[in-house]
Amino acid sequence: MKTIIQAEQLCKNYDKFTAVDHISFAIEEGECFGFLGPNGAGKTTTVRMIHCVSPVSSGTLTVLDMAASIDNRTIKKNIGVIPQEINLDNDLTVRENLQVFAHFFDIPGPEAQRRIDELLKFVELEKKRDSRIEQLSTGMKRRLLIARALLNQPKIIVADEPTTGLDPQARHLIWQRLRQLKSQGVTLILTTQYMEEAQQLCDRIVIMHQGRILKAGVPTRLIADEIGREVTELRVAADQDEKLLAELGPLARGHERVGDSLYLYSDDGRPLMKKVLELDLPDTVHRPASLEDVFLKLTGRSLIE
Ligand SMILES: Nc1ncnc2c1ncn2[C@@H]1O[C@H](COP(=O)(O)OP(=O)(O)OP(=O)(O)O)[C@@H](O)[C@H]1O
Ligand SMILES: [Mg+2]
Repeated sequence: MKTIIQAEQLCKNYDKFTAVDHISFAIEEGECFGFLGPNGAGKTTTVRMIHCVSPVSSGTLTVLDMAASIDNRTIKKNIGVIPQEINLDNDLTVRENLQVFAHFFDIPGPEAQRRIDELLKFVELEKKRDSRIEQLSTGMKRRLLIARALLNQPKIIVADEPTTGLDPQARHLIWQRLRQLKSQGVTLILTTQYMEEAQQLCDRIVIMHQGRILKAGVPTRLIADEIGREVTELRVAADQDEKLLAELGPLARGHERVGDSLYLYSDDGRPLMKKVLELDLPDTVHRPASLEDVFLKLTGRSLIE
Protein backbone atom coordinates (compact mmCIF):
# COMPACT_ATOMS: atom_id res chain seq x y z
CA MET A 1 0.00 0.00 0.00
CA LYS A 2 1.26 3.42 -0.93
CA THR A 3 0.26 6.53 1.00
CA ILE A 4 -1.08 9.04 -1.51
CA ILE A 5 -2.22 11.82 0.84
CA GLN A 6 -0.82 12.58 4.25
CA ALA A 7 -1.79 15.24 6.77
CA GLU A 8 0.01 16.00 10.03
CA GLN A 9 -1.47 18.42 12.56
CA LEU A 10 -3.37 20.12 9.75
CA CYS A 11 -5.19 23.34 10.69
CA LYS A 12 -7.41 25.87 8.97
CA ASN A 13 -8.20 29.16 10.66
CA TYR A 14 -10.60 31.86 9.53
CA ASP A 15 -9.51 34.87 11.57
CA LYS A 16 -9.88 33.64 15.15
CA PHE A 17 -12.14 30.71 14.26
CA THR A 18 -10.53 27.29 13.84
CA ALA A 19 -12.48 25.28 11.24
CA VAL A 20 -9.97 22.40 11.11
CA ASP A 21 -8.09 21.78 14.30
CA HIS A 22 -4.85 19.75 14.25
CA ILE A 23 -6.02 16.72 12.30
CA SER A 24 -3.73 13.93 11.07
CA PHE A 25 -4.60 11.16 8.62
CA ALA A 26 -3.07 9.12 5.79
CA ILE A 27 -4.97 7.99 2.69
CA GLU A 28 -3.77 4.93 0.76
CA GLU A 29 -3.77 4.58 -3.01
CA GLY A 30 -6.92 2.88 -4.30
CA GLU A 31 -9.00 3.06 -1.13
CA CYS A 32 -12.20 4.93 -0.42
CA PHE A 33 -11.50 7.20 2.53
CA GLY A 34 -14.41 8.97 4.19
CA PHE A 35 -14.85 12.07 6.32
CA LEU A 36 -18.07 11.54 8.27
CA GLY A 37 -19.52 14.36 10.32
CA PRO A 38 -22.45 16.73 10.82
CA ASN A 39 -22.92 20.23 9.34
CA GLY A 40 -19.98 22.47 10.16
CA ALA A 41 -17.65 19.62 11.20
CA GLY A 42 -14.92 20.85 8.81
CA LYS A 43 -15.27 18.24 6.04
CA THR A 44 -15.43 20.65 3.10
CA THR A 45 -12.68 22.80 4.58
CA THR A 46 -10.44 19.72 4.82
CA VAL A 47 -11.03 18.47 1.28
CA ARG A 48 -10.64 21.99 -0.13
CA MET A 49 -7.15 22.02 1.34
CA ILE A 50 -6.51 18.61 -0.27
CA HIS A 51 -7.46 19.80 -3.73
CA CYS A 52 -5.59 23.03 -3.16
CA VAL A 53 -8.28 25.68 -3.44
CA SER A 54 -7.88 26.69 0.20
CA PRO A 55 -4.42 27.32 1.67
CA VAL A 56 -3.27 25.38 4.73
CA SER A 57 -3.02 27.56 7.86
CA SER A 58 -0.56 25.30 9.68
CA GLY A 59 0.64 21.71 9.79
CA THR A 60 1.71 19.70 6.77
CA LEU A 61 -0.30 18.29 3.87
CA THR A 62 1.28 16.12 1.19
CA VAL A 63 -0.61 14.97 -1.91
CA LEU A 64 1.08 12.57 -4.38
CA ASP A 65 4.40 13.27 -2.65
CA MET A 66 4.02 17.01 -3.23
CA ALA A 67 3.50 19.69 -0.59
CA ALA A 68 0.04 21.22 -1.00
CA SER A 69 1.46 24.64 -0.15
CA ILE A 70 4.01 24.55 -3.00
CA ASP A 71 2.90 22.31 -5.87
CA ASN A 72 -0.75 23.25 -5.85
CA ARG A 73 -1.07 23.63 -9.64
CA THR A 74 0.21 20.11 -10.29
CA ILE A 75 -1.94 18.66 -7.51
CA LYS A 76 -5.06 20.39 -8.87
CA LYS A 77 -4.47 18.78 -12.27
CA ASN A 78 -4.40 15.33 -10.71
CA ILE A 79 -7.59 15.53 -8.67
CA GLY A 80 -11.15 15.38 -9.95
CA VAL A 81 -13.58 17.29 -7.76
CA ILE A 82 -17.28 16.67 -7.27
CA PRO A 83 -18.17 19.79 -5.28
CA GLN A 84 -20.84 20.04 -2.61
CA GLU A 85 -22.47 23.00 -4.38
CA ILE A 86 -23.87 22.30 -7.84
CA ASN A 87 -21.83 24.81 -9.83
CA LEU A 88 -22.86 23.99 -13.39
CA ASP A 89 -23.32 26.71 -16.00
CA ASN A 90 -27.09 27.13 -16.39
CA ASP A 91 -26.75 28.95 -19.73
CA LEU A 92 -25.11 25.93 -21.34
CA THR A 93 -26.27 22.44 -22.25
CA VAL A 94 -25.05 19.27 -20.59
CA ARG A 95 -22.52 18.61 -23.34
CA GLU A 96 -21.36 22.24 -23.44
CA ASN A 97 -20.69 22.20 -19.71
CA LEU A 98 -18.29 19.32 -20.27
CA GLN A 99 -16.75 20.95 -23.35
CA VAL A 100 -15.85 24.07 -21.36
CA PHE A 101 -14.03 21.92 -18.82
CA ALA A 102 -12.27 19.87 -21.51
CA HIS A 103 -11.03 23.13 -22.99
CA PHE A 104 -9.87 24.27 -19.56
CA PHE A 105 -7.84 21.05 -19.24
CA ASP A 106 -6.40 21.46 -22.78
CA ILE A 107 -7.88 18.16 -23.96
CA PRO A 108 -7.77 18.22 -27.80
CA GLY A 109 -11.16 18.41 -29.60
CA PRO A 110 -11.61 14.86 -30.96
CA GLU A 111 -10.30 13.29 -27.73
CA ALA A 112 -12.60 15.56 -25.70
CA GLN A 113 -15.59 14.44 -27.81
CA ARG A 114 -14.69 10.80 -27.28
CA ARG A 115 -14.37 11.24 -23.51
CA ILE A 116 -17.55 13.30 -23.23
CA ASP A 117 -19.58 10.62 -25.07
CA GLU A 118 -18.08 7.90 -22.92
CA LEU A 119 -18.66 9.79 -19.66
CA LEU A 120 -22.25 10.73 -20.51
CA LYS A 121 -22.86 7.03 -21.02
CA PHE A 122 -21.13 6.19 -17.74
CA VAL A 123 -23.43 8.52 -15.77
CA GLU A 124 -26.49 7.60 -17.87
CA LEU A 125 -27.06 11.07 -19.29
CA GLU A 126 -26.65 10.35 -23.06
CA LYS A 127 -30.28 11.25 -23.70
CA LYS A 128 -29.84 14.56 -21.90
CA ARG A 129 -26.71 15.65 -23.77
CA ASP A 130 -28.45 18.60 -25.43
CA SER A 131 -30.66 19.56 -22.49
CA ARG A 132 -30.11 22.75 -20.57
CA ILE A 133 -29.07 22.40 -16.94
CA GLU A 134 -32.38 23.75 -15.62
CA GLN A 135 -34.13 20.81 -17.31
CA LEU A 136 -32.21 18.29 -15.18
CA SER A 137 -33.26 16.80 -11.86
CA THR A 138 -30.92 17.22 -8.89
CA GLY A 139 -29.77 13.61 -9.26
CA MET A 140 -28.93 14.21 -12.93
CA LYS A 141 -26.99 17.36 -12.05
CA ARG A 142 -24.98 15.43 -9.48
CA ARG A 143 -24.24 12.75 -12.08
CA LEU A 144 -23.08 15.43 -14.50
CA LEU A 145 -20.73 16.72 -11.79
CA ILE A 146 -19.26 13.21 -11.62
CA ALA A 147 -18.73 13.13 -15.39
CA ARG A 148 -17.10 16.56 -15.24
CA ALA A 149 -14.76 15.45 -12.45
CA LEU A 150 -13.64 12.49 -14.57
CA LEU A 151 -12.86 14.40 -17.79
CA ASN A 152 -9.23 14.80 -16.87
CA GLN A 153 -8.90 11.08 -16.02
CA PRO A 154 -7.69 11.80 -12.48
CA LYS A 155 -6.19 9.19 -10.16
CA ILE A 156 -7.87 10.85 -7.18
CA ILE A 157 -11.50 11.89 -6.89
CA VAL A 158 -12.84 14.12 -4.14
CA ALA A 159 -16.61 13.72 -3.72
CA ASP A 160 -18.01 16.28 -1.28
CA GLU A 161 -21.42 15.04 -0.11
CA PRO A 162 -22.24 13.60 -3.55
CA THR A 163 -25.76 12.43 -2.66
CA THR A 164 -27.11 15.14 -0.36
CA GLY A 165 -30.73 15.89 -1.20
CA LEU A 166 -31.24 12.83 -3.42
CA ASP A 167 -33.91 10.16 -3.13
CA PRO A 168 -32.79 6.57 -2.38
CA GLN A 169 -32.87 5.45 -6.03
CA ALA A 170 -30.75 8.38 -7.26
CA ARG A 171 -28.40 7.85 -4.33
CA HIS A 172 -27.90 4.17 -5.14
CA LEU A 173 -27.06 4.98 -8.77
CA ILE A 174 -24.32 7.38 -7.61
CA TRP A 175 -23.00 4.81 -5.13
CA GLN A 176 -22.76 2.26 -7.95
CA ARG A 177 -20.77 4.65 -10.11
CA LEU A 178 -18.41 5.59 -7.29
CA ARG A 179 -17.83 1.90 -6.50
CA GLN A 180 -17.14 1.29 -10.20
CA LEU A 181 -14.50 4.04 -10.18
CA LYS A 182 -12.90 2.52 -7.12
CA SER A 183 -12.75 -0.87 -8.81
CA GLN A 184 -10.86 0.84 -11.65
CA GLY A 185 -8.18 1.87 -9.16
CA VAL A 186 -9.24 5.46 -8.49
CA THR A 187 -8.58 6.71 -4.96
CA LEU A 188 -11.82 8.09 -3.59
CA ILE A 189 -12.12 10.75 -0.91
CA LEU A 190 -15.66 11.14 0.25
CA THR A 191 -17.32 13.48 2.69
CA THR A 192 -20.75 12.65 4.01
CA GLN A 193 -23.16 13.22 6.85
CA TYR A 194 -24.95 9.96 6.04
CA MET A 195 -23.69 7.06 8.08
CA GLU A 196 -25.18 4.62 5.57
CA GLU A 197 -23.17 6.22 2.76
CA ALA A 198 -19.98 5.88 4.79
CA GLN A 199 -20.80 2.24 5.57
CA GLN A 200 -21.67 1.48 1.94
CA LEU A 201 -18.61 2.99 0.31
CA CYS A 202 -15.72 3.60 2.64
CA ASP A 203 -12.85 1.26 3.46
CA ARG A 204 -11.81 3.58 6.26
CA ILE A 205 -13.32 6.69 7.78
CA VAL A 206 -12.56 9.43 10.21
CA ILE A 207 -15.40 10.80 12.31
CA MET A 208 -15.15 14.60 12.44
CA HIS A 209 -16.79 17.00 14.85
CA GLN A 210 -16.02 20.69 15.45
CA GLY A 211 -12.86 20.58 13.34
CA ARG A 212 -11.35 17.58 15.06
CA ILE A 213 -11.08 13.87 14.36
CA LEU A 214 -12.82 11.95 17.12
CA LYS A 215 -12.19 8.42 15.81
CA ALA A 216 -10.60 6.74 12.81
CA GLY A 217 -10.90 3.23 11.46
CA VAL A 218 -12.76 0.64 9.41
CA PRO A 219 -16.53 1.28 9.71
CA THR A 220 -17.56 -2.25 10.78
CA ARG A 221 -14.64 -2.41 13.24
CA LEU A 222 -15.55 0.94 14.80
CA ILE A 223 -19.13 -0.18 15.30
CA ALA A 224 -18.08 -3.52 16.77
CA ASP A 225 -15.56 -1.96 19.15
CA GLU A 226 -17.55 1.06 20.30
CA ILE A 227 -21.09 -0.29 20.33
CA GLY A 228 -21.45 -4.02 19.60
CA ARG A 229 -23.91 -5.66 17.23
CA GLU A 230 -27.27 -4.37 18.38
CA VAL A 231 -28.93 -1.34 19.89
CA THR A 232 -32.13 -1.19 21.91
CA GLU A 233 -33.70 2.24 22.22
CA LEU A 234 -35.94 2.86 25.22
CA ARG A 235 -38.13 5.94 25.44
CA VAL A 236 -38.09 6.40 29.19
CA ALA A 237 -37.61 9.42 31.42
CA ALA A 238 -34.00 10.00 32.44
CA ASP A 239 -34.75 9.60 36.16
CA GLN A 240 -35.57 5.93 35.43
CA ASP A 241 -32.11 5.14 34.02
CA GLU A 242 -30.37 4.06 37.19
CA LYS A 243 -33.12 1.67 38.27
CA LEU A 244 -33.52 0.24 34.78
CA LEU A 245 -29.80 -0.31 34.25
CA ALA A 246 -29.58 -2.08 37.60
CA GLU A 247 -32.40 -4.42 36.55
CA LEU A 248 -30.82 -5.15 33.17
CA GLY A 249 -27.41 -5.76 34.72
CA PRO A 250 -24.84 -7.24 32.30
CA LEU A 251 -27.43 -7.78 29.51
CA ALA A 252 -26.35 -4.41 28.10
CA ARG A 253 -22.61 -4.01 27.48
CA GLY A 254 -22.93 -0.22 27.44
CA HIS A 255 -25.48 2.57 27.36
CA GLU A 256 -25.92 6.21 26.46
CA ARG A 257 -28.60 8.72 27.41
CA VAL A 258 -29.47 11.22 24.66
CA GLY A 259 -32.54 13.44 24.95
CA ASP A 260 -35.68 11.38 25.51
CA SER A 261 -33.99 8.04 24.81
CA LEU A 262 -31.81 5.54 26.60
CA TYR A 263 -29.65 3.57 24.16
CA LEU A 264 -28.55 0.09 25.24
CA TYR A 265 -25.70 -1.71 23.47
CA SER A 266 -25.37 -5.48 23.19
CA ASP A 267 -23.81 -8.20 21.05
CA ASP A 268 -26.80 -10.50 21.23
CA GLY A 269 -29.88 -8.42 21.96
CA ARG A 270 -32.29 -11.32 22.45
CA PRO A 271 -31.98 -11.81 26.23
CA LEU A 272 -31.98 -8.03 26.64
CA MET A 273 -35.09 -7.72 24.50
CA LYS A 274 -36.79 -10.49 26.46
CA LYS A 275 -36.14 -8.64 29.71
CA VAL A 276 -37.28 -5.34 28.22
CA LEU A 277 -40.55 -6.99 27.10
CA GLU A 278 -41.07 -8.32 30.62
CA LEU A 279 -40.68 -4.79 31.96
CA ASP A 280 -43.41 -3.71 29.49
CA LEU A 281 -41.73 -0.45 28.41
CA PRO A 282 -43.38 1.71 25.73
CA ASP A 283 -42.07 2.51 22.19
CA THR A 284 -39.05 0.23 22.27
CA VAL A 285 -36.92 -0.03 19.11
CA HIS A 286 -34.48 -2.85 18.52
CA ARG A 287 -32.07 -2.62 15.55
CA PRO A 288 -28.53 -3.32 14.29
CA ALA A 289 -25.81 -0.93 15.52
CA SER A 290 -24.52 1.69 13.06
CA LEU A 291 -21.98 4.49 12.70
CA GLU A 292 -24.69 6.86 13.88
CA ASP A 293 -24.47 5.12 17.26
CA VAL A 294 -20.71 5.57 17.33
CA PHE A 295 -21.17 9.29 16.67
CA LEU A 296 -23.92 9.53 19.28
CA LYS A 297 -21.73 7.83 21.86
CA LEU A 298 -18.78 10.13 21.11
CA THR A 299 -20.68 13.41 21.02
CA GLY A 300 -24.03 12.92 22.74
CA ARG A 301 -25.82 14.14 19.62
CA SER A 302 -26.93 12.75 16.25
CA LEU A 303 -25.26 13.32 12.88
CA ILE A 304 -28.27 15.01 11.29
CA GLU A 305 -30.38 17.26 13.48
N1 LIG B 1 -14.79 31.02 4.22
C1 LIG B 1 -15.12 30.84 5.49
N2 LIG B 1 -15.00 31.83 6.40
C2 LIG B 1 -15.32 31.67 7.70
N3 LIG B 1 -15.75 30.51 8.20
C3 LIG B 1 -15.88 29.46 7.38
C4 LIG B 1 -15.57 29.57 5.98
N4 LIG B 1 -15.79 28.36 5.40
C5 LIG B 1 -16.22 27.55 6.38
N5 LIG B 1 -16.28 28.21 7.56
C6 LIG B 1 -16.71 27.63 8.85
O1 LIG B 1 -15.91 26.49 9.11
C7 LIG B 1 -16.69 25.47 9.73
C8 LIG B 1 -16.57 24.20 8.92
O2 LIG B 1 -17.22 24.37 7.69
P1 LIG B 1 -17.24 23.25 6.56
O3 LIG B 1 -17.92 23.83 5.38
O4 LIG B 1 -15.89 22.70 6.39
O5 LIG B 1 -18.17 22.16 7.25
P2 LIG B 1 -18.73 20.81 6.64
O6 LIG B 1 -18.33 19.71 7.54
O7 LIG B 1 -18.38 20.69 5.21
O8 LIG B 1 -20.32 21.01 6.81
P3 LIG B 1 -21.55 20.65 5.82
O9 LIG B 1 -21.93 19.23 6.12
O10 LIG B 1 -22.62 21.60 6.26
O11 LIG B 1 -21.10 20.87 4.42
C9 LIG B 1 -18.11 26.00 9.84
O12 LIG B 1 -18.31 26.49 11.14
C10 LIG B 1 -18.14 27.13 8.82
O13 LIG B 1 -19.03 28.13 9.23
MG1 LIG C 1 -19.43 20.60 3.51
